[in-house]
Amino acid sequence: MSEQPQSSDRWSSEIDTLVTRCVAELAASPTEIALREAYARYGGQKGAVKRAVQAAITAAPKERKREVGQVGNAALQQIDGAFESRKRVLADEARGRDLARTVDVTLPGRAPRAGHLHPLTHTRREIERIFAQLGFSLATGPQVETDFHNFEALAMPKDHPARDMQDTFYVAGAKDVLLRTHTSPVQIRTMLAQRPPVRVICPGPVYRRDDDPTHSPMFHQVEGLVVDEQVTFGDLKGTLLHFVRAFFGPATGIRLRPSFFPFTEPSAEVDLSCVFCALQPKTRSPDAGCRTCKGTGWLEVGGAGMVDPEVFRHVDYDSERYTGFAFGFGIDRMAMLKYRISDIRLLYEGDQRLLEQFQ
Ligand code: DAH
Repeated sequence: MSEQPQSSDRWSSEIDTLVTRCVAELAASPTEIALREAYARYGGQKGAVKRAVQAAITAAPKERKREVGQVGNAALQQIDGAFESRKRVLADEARGRDLARTVDVTLPGRAPRAGHLHPLTHTRREIERIFAQLGFSLATGPQVETDFHNFEALAMPKDHPARDMQDTFYVAGAKDVLLRTHTSPVQIRTMLAQRPPVRVICPGPVYRRDDDPTHSPMFHQVEGLVVDEQVTFGDLKGTLLHFVRAFFGPATGIRLRPSFFPFTEPSAEVDLSCVFCALQPKTRSPDAGCRTCKGTGWLEVGGAGMVDPEVFRHVDYDSERYTGFAFGFGIDRMAMLKYRISDIRLLYEGDQRLLEQFQ
């Protein structure tokens, strides 16, 4: 107990030292973050000054606790004061720097460049919109398909020569798995999933081993399928005619040429009156014709036909009761014809000079 005055000296000089060090660190803090960190090290809940004061109060005899507490509070107030004044200095400096900046408020603003849809997306949406108005709903399927959906169920068994027309990418190491060569497998998936009546369009990417100015290894098709009682070839023709007129304009015509697809019977090749040289097939002069249509006045755009009963058999539809029509055409080709794009690869190069025209 006789050492108490000494020990009280010790605690107060300890606090003094800490305060001196703290004040120096606060004054030297270059940023507000550094300042707050320094403050926390000394004056914060677990700070050195705080702890020293607490310890001194605990160690002091009862009758001196009050005095020790007062000294401690004064120390804490001192570092609070040093903190506040350094904070003000830093804020003033920041404000000074801000005001010193020269901003030319008369400069014109820089507008952010707005993105926009790709011409193929425009085209697909326009096709979807037209068919939606006719009561078609949208159906989609996987791009990696099975041989069954892409060929077999569409009446193209393994050795069928019609497979040769669709240069197929097969998935290595997987049996009977391929990149779909057309959107027709979505017909199969739709019919397996629901009973008639069916009225769907199925747009999406398809893949073939082709690469030249009019063929890209990845391109887009849209498939249409209608199945119900008493669906006729006339319904098919009317639907296609309505579509091309809504898409290309009221003067557009179509021509259906007898053809063959394994999944339709009868089948037809769908020709569009040439959008470049002869919009009105009835009044077209005999010498109409251009390079695109090779002088014929017609452009081949897709295939169509009445769903073959063999296809219905694969999806367990009663072909005595139901009939249906289907069609398929290229979305890229539609876009090229509508927007006069001469090379399909332009649609996939991402060249701004082309894309900017479709804001
Ligand atoms: N899937 C055919 C192809 O890509 C196009 C086609 C022809 C689709 C006739 C049809 C159709 O739905 O009825 O070559």
